[in-house]
Amino acid sequence: MQKKPGPIGVFDSGYGGLTVLKEIIKTLPEYDYIYLGDNGRAPYGIRSYETVYHYTLECVQHLFRMGCHLVILACNTASAKALRTIQQNDLPGIDPEKRVLGIIRPTTEIVGDYSRSRNVGIFGTAGTVNSQSYPIEIEKFFPDVTVYQQACPMWVPLVENDEYESEGADFFIKKYIRQLMVQSESIDTIVLGCTHYPLLVDKIRKYLPGDVTLLSQGTIASASLENYLERHPEIREKCSTGGTREFYTTDDTGTFDRQAGIFFEQPVSSRHLAL
Ligand code: DGL
Repeated sequence: MQKKPGPIGVFDSGYGGLTVLKEIIKTLPEYDYIYLGDNGRAPYGIRSYETVYHYTLECVQHLFRMGCHLVILACNTASAKALRTIQQNDLPGIDPEKRVLGIIRPTTEIVGDYSRSRNVGIFGTAGTVNSQSYPIEIEKFFPDVTVYQQACPMWVPLVENDEYESEGADFFIKKYIRQLMVQSESIDTIVLGCTHYPLLVDKIRKYLPGDVTLLSQGTIASASLENYLERHPEIREKCSTGGTREFYTTDDTGTFDRQAGIFFEQPVSSRHLAL
């Protein structure tokens, strides 16, 4: 039976995925999108594998019930800890024709193109860094690249609590930059491996050597999705094209709308999703 096309689902633990959705919409404005932020249970970056997996699966299933056939995990932590299990163990039982894509793979496919020194740094949550997903994936595409990682556990709370422009934020930005850069003087390319971090980009740039290339994932994810939909017409046909955008949060909608507007750079009006 032909299934009705539905919106593309974009998921994050909180607000960070909006930095990705914003770029995806610039590239692919014609599609319908549903954004789901699990703000009620964020941050994910400090939680165990099992917790991140269960939370992510639950949210993905909600997006499927809302009519999505394709869901993007616009969250590195969920991509690192839940994506593979959902793709391999859960999707065949839920609906083998649905797709869930992550954000780490598209980043690791291109990162080596930017580095001359072949020394790449990753800033991420503790969950992403401990999963070793970046070194493992980068090794597959660029075996000559050495990867250095730094967990930044204070950066997501600074962003989620709207403290990212405060003077206090500088302390933790300098701290994690120092801890990454002492690992190798040759790092010339750094991935902001958490979708919350683009809000800190001005401050991060301020404390990094000027010749270091900083990669944010919004444009990487949008180019990758465009390419994916070109290569997979059978999935593209299931993505509806009304140009609508809906936003759901598992926490308070008023707070979400205020904060989300900053990430999305447009007014946002969300609905509550009870889990
Ligand atoms: N935005 C998420 C990421 O890309 C993590 C935020 C969190 O810790 O919940 O990893």
